[in-house]
Amino acid sequence: MTFCALHQRGLGGRRQQQAAGMLNTLLRPTMDHAVQQPISGAASALYPNHLSTLMQRTEEALRRVGKRHLLIPSGVTKYQFLDDRPYPFQVNPHFKAWLPLTEHADCWLVITPGQKPHLIYLLADDFWHLPPQAPEGYWVAHWQVSLIRTPDEARALLPPTADCSIVGDADAALADYLPDNAPALLDYLHYHRAYKTAYELSLLRAASTRAVRGHRAAEASFRSGGSELDIHRAYLAATGHNDLDLPYTNIVCLNEHCATLHYQYQSPVKPETSRSMLIDAGASVAGYAADITRTFSNEDALFSALIRGVDEAQRALVDRVREGVDYRDLHVECHHRLADVLIDFGILKGTAEAAVTEGISAAFFPHGLGHLLGLQVHDVAGFAASDQGGRIERPEGHPFLRLTRTLSAGMVMTIEPGIYFIESLLAPLRSRLPEERINWSLIEHLKPFGGIRIEDDVVCTGSMPENLTRDAFAAA
Ligand code: GLY
Ligand code: MN
Ligand code: MN
Repeated sequence: MTFCALHQRGLGGRRQQQAAGMLNTLLRPTMDHAVQQPISGAASALYPNHLSTLMQRTEEALRRVGKRHLLIPSGVTKYQFLDDRPYPFQVNPHFKAWLPLTEHADCWLVITPGQKPHLIYLLADDFWHLPPQAPEGYWVAHWQVSLIRTPDEARALLPPTADCSIVGDADAALADYLPDNAPALLDYLHYHRAYKTAYELSLLRAASTRAVRGHRAAEASFRSGGSELDIHRAYLAATGHNDLDLPYTNIVCLNEHCATLHYQYQSPVKPETSRSMLIDAGASVAGYAADITRTFSNEDALFSALIRGVDEAQRALVDRVREGVDYRDLHVECHHRLADVLIDFGILKGTAEAAVTEGISAAFFPHGLGHLLGLQVHDVAGFAASDQGGRIERPEGHPFLRLTRTLSAGMVMTIEPGIYFIESLLAPLRSRLPEERINWSLIEHLKPFGGIRIEDDVVCTGSMPENLTRDAFAAA
């Protein structure tokens, strides 16, 4: 680590003293601030290889656009209209791919093949807010670090723009260093980001472990009659997250609310009866996400059995996460499996084939089987045909599928089938389907339970899939 900026910019003696003090902190483990837990030793041992993989990918991506440097601004704090209140800061995912910093606005990475990567780190004098702490942890020794006091000071440390490709949000940088987000560079980096390094897998495992702590607490709160807000709070307490740390807004539904796919309110009212709970809630570790859904029933034998039916189909689909499998085929297979469940329960009559081709299964399972997962909960490049661009379209009649690639080792995705009783989707079936094809009285019985989704995070490997979620539940 070098504090070149301190010397180049002639910062005062106090800052230099601070810098010397910082050196003493470098041997401390990197903390995940929300729970003040050290990020696992496994991740820190795997970090150097992760860095060299990113460096190789970047070298090739830069070659494709004829540039020498990749610049990555972390992003800026954005303010609400006519107000001095900031929106929650969301770091540029390209930034957190390189190092476990998620709360740091106005920083830059300068990546130059053949050179130590360079972090330009804002350490502002700010008595209004808690400024970021001096950089510390397992990753620091691999970086050249320059400290700046104001965002503008980065300019003097950045290479000339003509030599750079800049990746970031349109307004996330200095006015004379606007991101170009070169398509050929992004196509390459995004395509390969689907293949996780061993370091990334260790962080995704840790994220699942953390989310599972929350899911167990949420189930206990549901069983004891908690409101949606009580359940959400129990989840947060058990994960050590606050709302802003979550990789997406928790979906916590009771009873009929389970039929709203992305139900976003957490009612504070305790229900008279807690018939069912659907909770889709994640966790973050070092910027990597878990995305897990579980559904529970408190009482009804039929709905409980239906949960088991979806669970069985879900496990079978997880088992199909193998190299060479086209995820589009897996999604269509999911429709067949869920149609079989609906037929087994007497909700539908006829064949699964007919239910799928006539679009009947889609009235009960309207969303996609899943998506890539990593630095973003819906990770990039789910449709990428190659690292040179191109798009693999969704199969006809499946407008919400978010992943169409063929699976190979290192990809991490969700497998999240569901069966829901959503009146606006069922209504067209009422006129379209003859009485003998569908059992409306069973559906009326099940509607107060809303619906079912079961979602695991799964790694495609060279052999058996690794189920991050079920492994974490088993270990809990
Ligand atoms: N939690 C959002 C999703 O499952 O895709
Ligand atoms: Mn998901
Ligand atoms: Mn989810």
